[in-house]
Amino acid sequence: MTPVIVRVPAKINLQLSVGPPRADGYHDLVTVFHAVSLFDEVSVAPADQDAVAVSGEGASQIPANGDNLALRAVNALRTALPGVGEPVRISIKKRIPVAAGLAGGSADAAAALVACNELWDTGLTHEQLSEIAADVGSDVAFAVHGGTAVGRGRGEQLTKALVPNAQYHWVLAFADGQLSTPTVYQKTDELRSEASPVNAPALDATLMAALRAGDPVRVGNALSNDLQPAALALFPGLRKTLDAGKEFGALGALVSGSGPTCLFLARNSERALALAVSLSGAGVCRSVATATGPAPGATLR
Ligand code: C5P
Repeated sequence: MTPVIVRVPAKINLQLSVGPPRADGYHDLVTVFHAVSLFDEVSVAPADQDAVAVSGEGASQIPANGDNLALRAVNALRTALPGVGEPVRISIKKRIPVAAGLAGGSADAAAALVACNELWDTGLTHEQLSEIAADVGSDVAFAVHGGTAVGRGRGEQLTKALVPNAQYHWVLAFADGQLSTPTVYQKTDELRSEASPVNAPALDATLMAALRAGDPVRVGNALSNDLQPAALALFPGLRKTLDAGKEFGALGALVSGSGPTCLFLARNSERALALAVSLSGAGVCRSVATATGPAPGATLR
């Protein structure tokens, strides 16, 4: 039987508003997720026993056992559908860097869910898959969904953003290092403990108006991320990367999610390419990539 192949995008957060820590250790969020055209490819085929093989960007750092998020997603699907789910071999071709604030692991989990839904002919809807996805990780439902969406709760409660079909041109600057998401949240709490009480997270009306207008200049000005101060405190070199991007004319510059990837918005594809070349030449990051958004969620090939 031929394997089922799914392509799945990286995500960035155009806004990430983070509330105080909850009793369960998570933080309530309001975030504007945006999928970009940097894709992992996940193929799933029947096998004698479950197995995971990872190749490409950062492959050696990804567990190839039961801790692998894609395999955890497959097991979550089996739990939701008792009696369904022959053993599978999952092959992951990575282009999304690991622990980079781009939800690469969540993307692979989402792809595995979509692939097994097809392979096992389980016929779950996107909504049903999203519910299972939410149990696997906070960003997994969005990787199934794709596009631009508002996330609430831990990030798993999604509403499609009703915005026109504008295409945005991004430059991603990959850092020489990684940041652990729990550590960045913890540092955020620490930095805030010295300041006044933390407000509940809220959607930024200015950003939403900019997205509705499809205006990259306004979107660039409205990008925000409550995790950025902590990411900069833990990885001070990122400040140089952000400053360089602004100097080279980016419409907006932001740490992506919990970092350390930095993202920059450009007016069009030519400007994005020029910015990528300049950043690359400035030696302020490990490597750069251009990407467009919004990109579709996990999709069968
Ligand atoms: O849900 P996920 O496994 O992707 O989250 C990774 C970690 O990020 C959590 O263990 C938690 O420390 C932190 N997190 C959080 N609040 C969220 C999402 C993630 O504190 N809304």
